[in-house]
Amino acid sequence: MEKGMRIAINTGGGDAPGLNAVIEAVVLSASNRNWEVYGIKNGYAGLLNTDEIIRLNPESVRHICNMGGTILGTTNKGNPFKMPITNVAGETEIRDVSDKVVENFRRLRFDCLIATGGDGSLQIAYDFYKKGMPVVCVPKTIDNDLGATVVTFGFDTAVSIATDAIDRLHSTAKSHERVMVVEVMGRHAGWIALNSGVSGAADVVLIPEIPFSIDKICDHIMEREIHGQHYAIVVVAEGAVPEGGRIMDKGKGEVGRQDVVLGGVGEFVAKEIALKTGKDTRSLVLGHLQRGGSPTTFDRLLALRFGAAAVRMVEQRNFGAMVALEPPDVKAVPLEQVIGSIKNVPAGSDTIKTAREIGISFGD
Ligand code: F6P
Repeated sequence: MEKGMRIAINTGGGDAPGLNAVIEAVVLSASNRNWEVYGIKNGYAGLLNTDEIIRLNPESVRHICNMGGTILGTTNKGNPFKMPITNVAGETEIRDVSDKVVENFRRLRFDCLIATGGDGSLQIAYDFYKKGMPVVCVPKTIDNDLGATVVTFGFDTAVSIATDAIDRLHSTAKSHERVMVVEVMGRHAGWIALNSGVSGAADVVLIPEIPFSIDKICDHIMEREIHGQHYAIVVVAEGAVPEGGRIMDKGKGEVGRQDVVLGGVGEFVAKEIALKTGKDTRSLVLGHLQRGGSPTTFDRLLALRFGAAAVRMVEQRNFGAMVALEPPDVKAVPLEQVIGSIKNVPAGSDTIKTAREIGISFGD
């Protein structure tokens, strides 16, 4: 009889609603095959210091699919190929500690790592695969910016939260005859801003894919004034850029961080609008609220399907690949086709066309 598999699972990068649903589905489907599943804490950190590896059994994960966050913890700083280590002189240097991870993985006799993460975590998983570690990946991000899958779990929840926030801003904006500027997440892609802005009936939506002009935004707001609409809602993606300007990165100096930490564009836009239109303007950053709490039904189901599909891929020894939604199916896509392919909102997007036709400005 074939020996039962020993699977390790980790969650990496920013958390996204649905991660616990993936863990639940992996553990339940693996247990049904009489396999063992071990949870690795905090991305890859748990494979460097192996003290906290936990055996996951059906009892410990049953119906955690409705819980936000991840029971395994996560980090967006722990790339074992570029690990910041503080030396005796107190200086931080970047070292490659990936051999140690592979050594521990083998010592613990794992047959496969199911790595759940966004573009950064997928790149790390691919690098480990190239070092001989059998990996199967599950894509996650609220930003929905991963190519090869039609959608990632976490996105639907983030859009629902942002839409609800925009809905709530209408009454206060109208009561005070103010411009309310709300900055939403999404990194270099405008999916969250676009989908929530259109659904929440924003007046202006600014996304990274369409550089904006402050004058055009103000024209739109003043045009509304003429028609008796003395308030406006502006939704700004954190990665939106002014024409000829640059992306706003507030992450410089965060130790161990290899990617940009975006933010500040909403405040910038609000100040410019106030200055140019003379209108009372307020800004808010929705921030991590978009990642918190229970996943929507759509995200739960997608994450459960991804987890079960990942276990199927392990069974088929289909390593170095990622699960992906290609409706109505969940398919396996080789990692080399996934790495580095960021999915932006296409110029000809039907949602952009719809938005323009119902009177929403993109500030262009
Ligand atoms: O990738 C998910 C995301 O929430 C982005 O939308 C955002 O730019 C980033 O993570 C924020 O990261 P952090 O959790 O480090 O603040």
